[in-house]
Amino acid sequence: KHTQVGIIGAGPAGLLLAQLLHQQGIESVVLENRPRQRVESRQRAGLLEQGTVDRLRQAGAADRLDREGLIHNGVILSFNGKRHRIDLAELTGGSRVTIYAQTEVVKDLIQLRLDSSLPGAGESIVFDAKAVDIQHVDDGEKPVVHYTHNGEAHTLTCDFVAGCDGFHGISRKAIPEALTRVYDKTYPYCWLGILAKVPPSTHELIYAYHERGFALHSMRSPDISRLYVQCDVTDTVDDWPDERIWSELQIRLGTTDWALQEGPILEKTITPMRSFVSEPMQHGRLFLAGDSAHIVPPTGAKGLNMAVADAGQLFDALMRWYRDGSMADLQDYTACCMRRVWRVQEFSNFMTDLFHHNADKSAFDLALQASRFNQLIASQVASAVVAENYVGLGAKRAG
Ligand code: FAD
Ligand code: DHB
Repeated sequence: KHTQVGIIGAGPAGLLLAQLLHQQGIESVVLENRPRQRVESRQRAGLLEQGTVDRLRQAGAADRLDREGLIHNGVILSFNGKRHRIDLAELTGGSRVTIYAQTEVVKDLIQLRLDSSLPGAGESIVFDAKAVDIQHVDDGEKPVVHYTHNGEAHTLTCDFVAGCDGFHGISRKAIPEALTRVYDKTYPYCWLGILAKVPPSTHELIYAYHERGFALHSMRSPDISRLYVQCDVTDTVDDWPDERIWSELQIRLGTTDWALQEGPILEKTITPMRSFVSEPMQHGRLFLAGDSAHIVPPTGAKGLNMAVADAGQLFDALMRWYRDGSMADLQDYTACCMRRVWRVQEFSNFMTDLFHHNADKSAFDLALQASRFNQLIASQVASAVVAENYVGLGAKRAG
């Protein structure tokens, strides 16, 4: 097979890039390890920044998002039962966030690509296709992606390779180790996430610190709630029967004049927490986007948004090449992404540290944590900094 841009991974980054390129008449093929049904049902993120919504609109992939997405003007922070609302719109000059699940973003993008009336559209995403090796990215020959599909070996030859294959993919490993610098941090806790068939008990998200650990009340729709509780790294879902989950959520999110509505739990998963950056995000004609290059802990909801921002940046740079024959933006790709990546890393780390209970912390560090929260209540400026980061920074303000 031949194409212009070979894309590895049908997550938000790979699918968005494919759709943006397609609109400009640039051909691509997306190779995806998993079956379509699996890709469309993996429960992950749910909060979209304005810039993410704008990119999806640009891709023509926002019709359902504009109809069904829930727009939030604020977010509630809670510390041992004391609540503080951050007015996102007021503190940022009108920016908001949208609740719309990653599963739905992915479904919309897949449908758009496969339903296109152009010949060959049906083959533009190959599911159950595992990329195993990438060759010739920096030797002047055309890059080649080797993959397996239905038990057979295949190759995809292309002008450029976009490595959008997530943290466990193969693309990052195709950059020589000697040229790579890795920054990594793990956290001594995990999140247990549930999807529950019950209307959300709050109009806006609640992020809560409690001595027993973090809790988050989010949502997917007016009928479905999404909630998370901090758990131990050694826990499995068997350690968390439904009654224990609800009881911890009641305690951690609780405040005097408010009760959490409970309902049937549809799904339970445990997510490990890590911060990770691998630099550079490119080598020759290979470019990484999204989780393949960096991971943030989920507090702050940045993973999906950063994947979309990378894919948008890579699209802009590729268009500069295909339209004007200039490699300049492709050469600057890593440098442009890194400013945003580190700002988001810092914010995600700040939110994670502020809201989790870490039994290894000294009394001094616990007191600092409480003081940071008190400053958010006392200072509009401190709240505005959180608001600005939470709604997403445009490229100009990223640092
Ligand atoms: P992914 O969505 O990971 O997509 C990569 C794709 O590449 C996958 O479909 C994978 O199957 C495919 N692939 C991998 N290897 C190969 C190969 N060799 N060949 C072909 N295809 C391959 N973010 C938040 O903001 N909030 C959350 O609550 C949240 N929860 C999360 C829970 C989990 C369990 C995980 C894993 C992530 C979560 N995230 C969350 C992060 C967010 O979902 C990711 O940042 C986002 O999915 C990144 O998109 P991506 O396109 O870069 O990668
Ligand atoms: C969701 C996940 C997050 O990590 C977050 O910070 C906010 C919302 C969610 O899944 O809805």
